[in-house]
Amino acid sequence: MQSFHLTRRAVLAGLGATALSARAGFADPAPIPLTAQRALAQIAPEGYPQTEIWSYDGRLPGPELRLAQGTRLQRRFVNSLEVPSSVHWHGIRIENAMDGVAGLTQEAVAPGASFDYDFVAPDAGTYWYHAHTHSMEQVARGLSGALIVQERDAPDVDRDEVLMFDDWLLDPQTAQIAPDFSHPMDLSHGGRFGNLIGTNGRFALTLRAKRHERLRLRLINAANARIFVLRLTGLSGWQVALDGMPLPAPEPIAQEIVLAPAQRIDLIVDVTAEGQEAAIERLGNDAQWSRQVGVQITGAASRSRRAPPAALPPNPKMDPPDLAQARPLEMKIEGGAMGRMPMSRMRGLMQSGKFWTLGGQAGPVDPPFARLFLGEPVRLRMVNDTAFPHAMHLHGMHFREVLEGERFGPMRDTLLTEAGASHEIAFTADNPGKWLLHCHMLAHAAAGMTSWIEVS
Ligand code: C2O
Ligand code: CU
Repeated sequence: MQSFHLTRRAVLAGLGATALSARAGFADPAPIPLTAQRALAQIAPEGYPQTEIWSYDGRLPGPELRLAQGTRLQRRFVNSLEVPSSVHWHGIRIENAMDGVAGLTQEAVAPGASFDYDFVAPDAGTYWYHAHTHSMEQVARGLSGALIVQERDAPDVDRDEVLMFDDWLLDPQTAQIAPDFSHPMDLSHGGRFGNLIGTNGRFALTLRAKRHERLRLRLINAANARIFVLRLTGLSGWQVALDGMPLPAPEPIAQEIVLAPAQRIDLIVDVTAEGQEAAIERLGNDAQWSRQVGVQITGAASRSRRAPPAALPPNPKMDPPDLAQARPLEMKIEGGAMGRMPMSRMRGLMQSGKFWTLGGQAGPVDPPFARLFLGEPVRLRMVNDTAFPHAMHLHGMHFREVLEGERFGPMRDTLLTEAGASHEIAFTADNPGKWLLHCHMLAHAAAGMTSWIEVS
C-alpha cells in the first residue's frame, strides 16, 4: 500500500512541470478553525458554579491570536452556536470584506456554517476580535479575544502580558449570565454593566514577576460599557502605544489610566515594589481603589537598572491628515435618559426600541452618514449632547483628535467623549469600503448609536 507520507519531492517528481501552477489543484490546506461554541468557565470565585458562556474555541477570553506584522491571519470561523454570528477584528486597518460586520460587510454566518477570514495585518500592536452580530449580547456572553500583531523588532522586555478587562452580569445565586439584553434601563443609561469585574476571564488574576523585571502590559477593555480607571502600585514605567498605534516617544504613565470600552494601551513597566506585591488597581463607583490584577513578587531579576525603553517602531501610514484640505463634517450625539432631546422625538424613537441618535438618525440606516472620496482628508466634529460618556469607534481607519491650535493627538480607533463635550477628529479616508462609526457602549450601539461612512 502506498504511504500517506509522500514527500513533497516525490509528489513533484511525479508531475510534469506544467502541473506546478496554482491552478493544478494543490488546494491550500484548510485554515485553522476558530469556533464559536458554548462552554463553561469559572468566572465567579471558587465555590460558585461555572458560568455557561459563548466562547471562541471553548476559552474565555478566546484564544490569543498572535502574528507578525505584515503577515496574513487566516481563520475559518465555524459557528457552532444556535444563532448567527460574525467576527470583527477591532482596530485592524483591514480589507472591507473581512471586517466582519453582519449586514454591512458580510452576511451573518448561520448556525452550522463557516466563513474564511483571511487578511493582512499591516500594523503592529494590541488589537482584539469580537462578535459583530448582536454584539451587545454576544460580546457580553464571552465572544472576544486578544489579537496581537508583533513588531519586527520587539522591545527588550522580560515578559509580554495581555490583560483583558471585562465585567459580567451574573445571577448572584447561580453565577449564570443574566439573559435580559434589552432592558430599557441599560439601553437608555450608561449601558449594561456587570456585577463581577475581572481580567482574562477570571474574577481575580494574579501574575508572578521578579523585582526589577521589565514587562510589557497590553491592556484591553473588552467590557460592554464600563470605563476602567486604573493606577499602578509597585510598577512604574511608560505608555508606549494607544489603540495599537505606537506613540512617537514613550510617555510616563499617567496617575490614572482611563480606558474606555474597546480602547487599548500598551505599557512598559519595571517591577519597582519593595515588598512582595504590586498591582493594577481600579477605581470603583464608591471612589475606592481595589485590586484589578495582583502581581506577586518572587525573587529579583539580575539587572536592577535599565535605560528607559525606546519608542516602538512606527507603523506605516501614520502621517497626520491635511487639515487645510479636509472636508468638515459634524455629528451630533443625542438622546438617552436625562438628555435634552424633546420628549416628543424621544417617544418616537422609543417606539422603535431606540434611545439615541447619531447625526439625527437612530441607526444603522441608509444612506451612510457621509460618502467620502478615496484619499480625501476629513475632519469630523462629534458633539456629545447627552448626559453620558460615549466611546466612539471608527472601523477601518485610525484617526487623530484635533486639539487646540490644530495640534494632533495620538492615533486612535476609539475616542471617549464625556457628557456635554465636543471633540474633533481627523483622518484620511484611505481605506475603501463601508465602515461603521458607532458607540462601543454596546447597548448604545444597539439602541441607535450606529452610523457608517462609505469610502470609494
Ligand atoms: Cu469593536 Cu464595531 O467594533
Ligand atoms: Cu454610547
